[in-house]
Amino acid sequence: MVMVLSGKKIVLGLTGGIACYKSAEFLRAMVRDGAQINVVMTDSATHFITPLTLQTLSENPVMVSQWESHAGSPLSHIDVTRTADAIIIAPCTANFAAKLAHGIADDLLSSLCLARPSHVPLLIAPAMNVEMWMNQATRRNIAQLKADGVGVMGPAAGFQACGEVGMGRMLEPQELLAETIAAFQPAVLKNKRVLITAGPTFEPIDPIRGITNRSSGKMGYAVARAAWEAGGEVSLVSGPVALPAPHGVARHDVTTAWEMREKVMSLIADQDVFIAVAAVADWRVANTSTQKIKKTGSAPQLQFEENPDILAEVASLKKPPFCVGFAAESEKLIEHAQEKRSRKNIPLLVGNIGEEAFGKDENELILFDAKGHTVLPRADKLVLARSLVRHIAGYL
Ligand code: PMT
Repeated sequence: MVMVLSGKKIVLGLTGGIACYKSAEFLRAMVRDGAQINVVMTDSATHFITPLTLQTLSENPVMVSQWESHAGSPLSHIDVTRTADAIIIAPCTANFAAKLAHGIADDLLSSLCLARPSHVPLLIAPAMNVEMWMNQATRRNIAQLKADGVGVMGPAAGFQACGEVGMGRMLEPQELLAETIAAFQPAVLKNKRVLITAGPTFEPIDPIRGITNRSSGKMGYAVARAAWEAGGEVSLVSGPVALPAPHGVARHDVTTAWEMREKVMSLIADQDVFIAVAAVADWRVANTSTQKIKKTGSAPQLQFEENPDILAEVASLKKPPFCVGFAAESEKLIEHAQEKRSRKNIPLLVGNIGEEAFGKDENELILFDAKGHTVLPRADKLVLARSLVRHIAGYL
């Protein structure tokens, strides 16, 4: 398992909202990922969840009052931010966001935030009623916080505890974890638009049967997640796979190679990078049957026609994005990969060994460009994807 938060010291601040119940699970998720958590609560937050719960989960004392001495010194509570790698306020109420935006320090948590060293990132997970979120004052405060460099995670839209529906729900614990991990990745694709294909395609023979391949989507989804973590605005065109969409990524589901081509071409304008990880069927059945093919004693005669080559088509656009292809080979990887790179006219091609890549959690990649090749040794696909994204950013 890849533990990005391993050894990271995080101050988790809770303010008074019903979403406090999700913070306990968020805390556990960060601890499982290796983080050390110090919890600081406002007095209001203690009405929604007890300090004891968070103390038990974090295995650290929970701080609430600025008038209590911590570790024998009345000021030692600010020490916790001196050694912190990040401060995360989850949930962050409209009131607390207003305090942060205006530099008000009237309790322990707001004082800690104001006194935090400038190199310690501050992230907030807003949680409030939809009308509070839409209120002009909150809009101004959130805009100010963003301008001040505060990371704003969410909120999401949906049913709210008050019975109303709309924006203002705190993100779910796993989404908060993904956002926290992303905050520790270099933002090498900030303001870049990235389009990725992933998974297999499925070419029908009849309404029941079809031709597909063993691609699980794991590699492409890892690349999409890594590109989002690096600050990219990511769209993922995915063939049929059993994976959830990575947080923050706009996923478009398709089935056939032709549908994948149509979706890619509809999204390609203004993309900065196109990464074709999908294992696209080169051929489709020309004589598909509209009814299930019955056994007749002789084998059905399938005829094939060639599918469009999506990557080659994108690479031949007048103003193509930076194009990255993948190639899974069963032999002569270097020879075949270099040949594919030149034939499709793309600057970067990622080679891997088919049997070791399809469906597996780990992979080994060889990156081919005009100058030669670079090996990314065997590792978890997400680790490789993060390296690949940094490599790609180097060309932009
Ligand atoms: O999904 P996983 O189980 O994690 O497996 C990952 C993977 C093995 C599928 C992935 O790492 C990989 O290698 N994908 C490319 C598979 C392949 O061999 O593709 P290809 O040689 O058929 O095509 C070369 C390139 O052209 C690829 O970038 C492909 O997306 C693209 N292509 C191919 C055919 C086509 N009609 N249109 C395309 O865009």
